[in-house]
Amino acid sequence: MNCTWKALLLLTAFVSSLGFNLDTEKPTHFHMDVSGFGYSVAQYDDTWVVVGAPKEIRATNQMGGLYRCAYDVEKCEPVHFQVPPEAVNMSLGLSLTAASNPSRLLACGPTVHHTCRENIYLTGLCFLLGSSNPPYQRFPTAPQECPRQDQDIVFLIDGSGSISSRDFQTMLKFVETVMRQFHRPRTQFSLMQFSHQFLTHFTFNDFVSAVNPLSRLNSVRQLGGFTYTATAIKRAITIHCPKWGSERCHQSPHCHY
Ligand SMILES: *[C@@H]1O[C@H](CO)[C@@H](O)[C@H](O)[C@H]1NC(C)=O
Repeated sequence: MNCTWKALLLLTAFVSSLGFNLDTEKPTHFHMDVSGFGYSVAQYDDTWVVVGAPKEIRATNQMGGLYRCAYDVEKCEPVHFQVPPEAVNMSLGLSLTAASNPSRLLACGPTVHHTCRENIYLTGLCFLLGSSNPPYQRFPTAPQECPRQDQDIVFLIDGSGSISSRDFQTMLKFVETVMRQFHRPRTQFSLMQFSHQFLTHFTFNDFVSAVNPLSRLNSVRQLGGFTYTATAIKRAITIHCPKWGSERCHQSPHCHY
């Protein structure tokens, strides 16, 4: 058996293991005139597909919807369930997955707008729908609380050679924009850059003691080199949180990842 023949055999085996049938003669069409319809799809039982429309405006502050579409009638109808009031503009249906025996559907939205003082946090919420009672379970089970302390922010930016200088400038611009949004001294910032090297541009203490912390961004130059991301994340965590893993660390204001 020569090499080409072996390769061909392998390829045939690979293709046949991925094989499935697609009916191109009489496909079933599902259509709803709502924003984002079809962004996510999950097969539910043998008779339904559930389709997400994460950009649909269902009601005031309620974004995202689910539809169940039946093959036999080729029609979709909205899945009705009471979305809790704190699920503001959550983009329900941005992710969707189904399981069988018993049939269950997990529908999530990652953009729950959660206002804490002057900041808006985007958190996620998922609903597990099935035939059971109550009609759905939610995850997390309780509404998320606002952080008790002001949160400090560590920026760790990738300055390796694969980042174009334009993208690097965009990152710095982003850092600057975020820093401008917060008032000193409530939120502290730190900036670090990595490639195969690691550079601390400023620590929380530097930030607090600087007269004009934003001016420190002007002297940041791209390192270049390889991309040691995991090492850099570990290092940034170690610097800011030596007691990583301990209970105290998780309660400290410097340790939300
Ligand atoms: C929710 O989304 C709608 C439509 O985009 C917008 O008008 C409304 O202000 C949003 N609500 C909040 C609380 O962000």
